[in-house]
Amino acid sequence: MTTEPHADTPATGRGEPAEGDDESFSAGVNLKGSLREVMQAPLTVYEIVGGQRFFDELVDRFYDAVEDDPLLRPMYPRDMGPSRRRLAGFLAQYWGGPPHYSEERGHPRLRMRHFPFAIGWAERDAWMVHMTASLDAATIADGTGRPLPAEIRAAMFDHFDNAATHLINQPAG
Ligand code: HEM
Repeated sequence: MTTEPHADTPATGRGEPAEGDDESFSAGVNLKGSLREVMQAPLTVYEIVGGQRFFDELVDRFYDAVEDDPLLRPMYPRDMGPSRRRLAGFLAQYWGGPPHYSEERGHPRLRMRHFPFAIGWAERDAWMVHMTASLDAATIADGTGRPLPAEIRAAMFDHFDNAATHLINQPAG
């Protein structure tokens, strides 16, 4: 009489991967069309720098310096909390974030909104000194302390530099 001692041993012995393992791995790779589009959409500057928190921190450092500036401080309201929120909201929106600033304030119309303040080269340069210092201290707002990519720092500097000159409303001299 012949015995087959191991006839009931399962074909897939212990140690071999179960089939389900492969399926659960590849399910994540076969993205549905719309999800694939989202995953491949280019990142905005707003996303790269860490979102709203980056702009809140940039503006906080900037306004902390304005608080101590004898030329600029008198132009701003006593409570600068709302001013901080407006500038941070504007910048976040400008660099690709959600349009909260416009929802609250409408079209920026920055030149018009700055007409009540006498802005000459001295005020413009003081503003730029504080914003440049804040930009130099900026890191990606994700808790890692990674530095701001040089191209992004340069693009932000150029925007501030051009916008500040554009807002001058006093004749030179
Ligand atoms: C050139 C020197 C500048 C001076 C002296 C200046 C001064 C001021 C002052 C006094 C205010 C009113 C404070 C408040 O929000 O209640 C203000 C508002 C504001 N500034 Fe400037 N600013 C300058 C440049 C800039 C630049 C370059 C930008 C943008 C890149 C900017 C963006 C804004 C925004 C978004 C607001 C709030 C507007 C609103 O919704 O009412 N400013 N600025």
